[in-house]
Amino acid sequence: MSLSYREIAQQLQKKPPQKEVVKPAQRFKKTDRELIGGNSTPIVANKQAKNGKTKEFALKKFKKAESCAIEKLSYDLLQLCGVKVPKTYILNDERNEPTVLASRIEPGYKDLLFWVGGTLRGKEFTRYLEKENEIFKNQHIPTQNKKEKPIIGLFENVGVFAFLQDRDAVGGSLQNIGLVEHDEYFQAVKIDPGYCTLSHDDDDSSLKRYLDYLQKLSSGNRWYDLDYHGDRGGNAAVFNHATPEQVKDGMMRVAKLSDKQLRAVIYNPKISSLSKETRDGTYNTLIIRRNAYQKQLGVYSSFNPLRFFARIIAQVAESYCSHAPTWRSRYF
Ligand SMILES: Nc1ncnc2c1ncn2[C@@H]1O[C@H](COP(=O)(O)OP(=O)(O)OP(=O)(O)O)[C@@H](O)[C@H]1O
Ligand SMILES: [Mg+2]
Repeated sequence: MSLSYREIAQQLQKKPPQKEVVKPAQRFKKTDRELIGGNSTPIVANKQAKNGKTKEFALKKFKKAESCAIEKLSYDLLQLCGVKVPKTYILNDERNEPTVLASRIEPGYKDLLFWVGGTLRGKEFTRYLEKENEIFKNQHIPTQNKKEKPIIGLFENVGVFAFLQDRDAVGGSLQNIGLVEHDEYFQAVKIDPGYCTLSHDDDDSSLKRYLDYLQKLSSGNRWYDLDYHGDRGGNAAVFNHATPEQVKDGMMRVAKLSDKQLRAVIYNPKISSLSKETRDGTYNTLIIRRNAYQKQLGVYSSFNPLRFFARIIAQVAESYCSHAPTWRSRYF
C-alpha cells in the first residue's frame, strides 16, 4: 500500500533520526532553471520515472500549508469539472511542512503569452495586441507551416472558471494558461489557480454577477463590456470571444456535478492541511453555485423523486387555481 505524503511525513516525525528515510521531496532533483511568473517564481525539478525517463515539475513554495492545500484543491476541482490541468503533488519543505506544490510541466507546454507572440525580459513582458486579438477572435494559432490549428479547452471553460470564481484565470501576462501543440490542435492547460474563491462566508453575493456575466456571454452577442467580477489580471476579455455553445459547455459540466463528486474532492483526506471550516465552507458554497447553474440552464443533475412529485403536485394545483405560484418559481 502506498502512503500519502502526509502519512510519510507523520512517520518521519514519529521516528527520528530520519537519515535512512528517503523523503518524497528528495526524489525531485532541483535544476537551475527558474520559471518566471507573478510572485512566486517556481523552480524546476526533475523526477526520475519508473521507465528511466525524467519528468519535469514546477515546485512552488507557499508561506502557509493551507494556501498550498487550497491551490491543490483548486486544481482538483478544475480537473473534476473537465479542465486539463497538470498532475500535482503536495510535498514537504525542509522543515517537514507540506508547503510545496509540485506541478508537472507537460512536454511542449509554453505559456499562452508565447503563443500569441509575446516575450519576456526578466519579469517584464510584452504583447502584440493586434496579433493577439486576431488569435482570440479566430480561436486559432498560426503555426510555422502556415497551418492554423484550433485552441481546445480555453473558451469552453469560462463557465468553470466562473464557477470557481478564478479572478486570474488567464493571468495578467497570459501566463496562467499554457498550450501544448498536437497534430491537429493546441490543448490549453490551466495552471496557477491560486486566485479561485472557493468559499464565501456570506451568501456569495458575487455569484449573481458571475451568472449575469455568463448570461451575457451566452446570449449570442459576442462583445460586452467587461463584467467579470474582480478580474485581477485584466484579461477576462479573452472570454468575450467564447461562443454561446462554449459558454454553455463549461456551465453544463458544472451543472452535472453530483453532491458526491464534490464531496469526494473537497473532503479528500490526502489534502491534510485543510480545516473542517474551510472544507464545509467550500462544499456549501460550491453546492449553491452548482444549483444556480442548474437553474440558469434549466437542467437538474439527477432524478430526485421528491422534486418530481413536488412538480406534479404543483402542476395539478396550478391547473385548479389560477393564483397558485408556478412550479418553476417555487421549487427550483
Ligand atoms: N505546471 C507548470 N507547467 C508549465 N509551466 C509552469 C507550471 N507551473 C508554473 N509554470 C510556469 O511558471 C510561471 C509561474 O508559475 P505560477 O503562475 O504558478 O506562479 P505565480 O504567478 O508566480 O504565482 P502567484 O501569482 O500565484 O504568486 C507560470 O507562469 C509558468 O510559466
Ligand atoms: Mg501565475
